[in-house]
Amino acid sequence: MLILSLSSVTKTFGGLVAVAGVSLGVERGQIAGLIGPNGAGKTTIFNLITGSIRPDDGHIFFSGRSLAGLKPHSVVALGVARTFQTIRLFPRLTVLDNVLSGCHCRLVSGVVAALLRLPSQRLEEKLVLKRAMAELEFVGLAERWSAEAGSLSYGDQRRLEIARALATEPKLLILDEPAGGMNERETANLMDLVGQIRDRDITIMLIEHDMGFVMRVCHRVFVMENGSLIAEGAPLEIQTNPRVIEAYLGRQDD
Ligand SMILES: Nc1ncnc2c1ncn2[C@@H]1O[C@H](COP(=O)(O)OP(=O)(O)OP(=O)(O)O)[C@@H](O)[C@H]1O
Ligand SMILES: [Mg+2]
Repeated sequence: MLILSLSSVTKTFGGLVAVAGVSLGVERGQIAGLIGPNGAGKTTIFNLITGSIRPDDGHIFFSGRSLAGLKPHSVVALGVARTFQTIRLFPRLTVLDNVLSGCHCRLVSGVVAALLRLPSQRLEEKLVLKRAMAELEFVGLAERWSAEAGSLSYGDQRRLEIARALATEPKLLILDEPAGGMNERETANLMDLVGQIRDRDITIMLIEHDMGFVMRVCHRVFVMENGSLIAEGAPLEIQTNPRVIEAYLGRQDD
């Protein structure tokens, strides 16, 4: 069953066609990779899915529902969470507060309950706190809960972003270059973490330039070049696809 599908999605910026009629489908429970050279349109695809920009043309469906016209917070509420290519945390807030900042979409008590400090509100606060700490535990950052986010190592900041995304209880987690800037050990840990997330029945779609990572972790790989999808398949098929090799190495004339 497809959890996510794009059909003929196009996005232009001025005269530049960043995404040119891309159609693709991600199966529920899969770890899907999106690869391609710099500027291929990968992050633009993620921005389109998560509602931060709108397609000029085409349709995006999540769990059978059109995402057309939805604002980012509504897409999160439906069960799509993301991390960013460039880390976006509140560096002066604590690790825990950064995770809590992702939890608002699941709060049900209204403003009145909050102002009156009704028991329902206090119970909800407790549950949210518990959930945030559980996600920190899951990514291995529970002991650092009170540290300033900006004081964490680069790899830990990336994992904190994942914890924040998980705290929104997603069905689909979208990771934009999660191993970017990580050392070998951190990358190996991240591979384990991605597998553990999938084991929680969360579908994953990730952009990554680290081919070892993509080939080891992903069930299916989509390859973009110049805004178009040029290949799709199992990691092994992709590795040996001449079109893909050419996209990465450039045309060899002699
Ligand atoms: N908001 C924007 N305004 C104008 N041009 C944009 C915008 N966002 C992306 N682009 C352009 O669209 C093209 C695709 O960009 P995108 O960020 O999707 O590439 P990418 O595949 O993620 O590349 P990288 O691997 O370098 O992150 C690039 O030429 C980029 O400059
Ligand atoms: Mg990008």
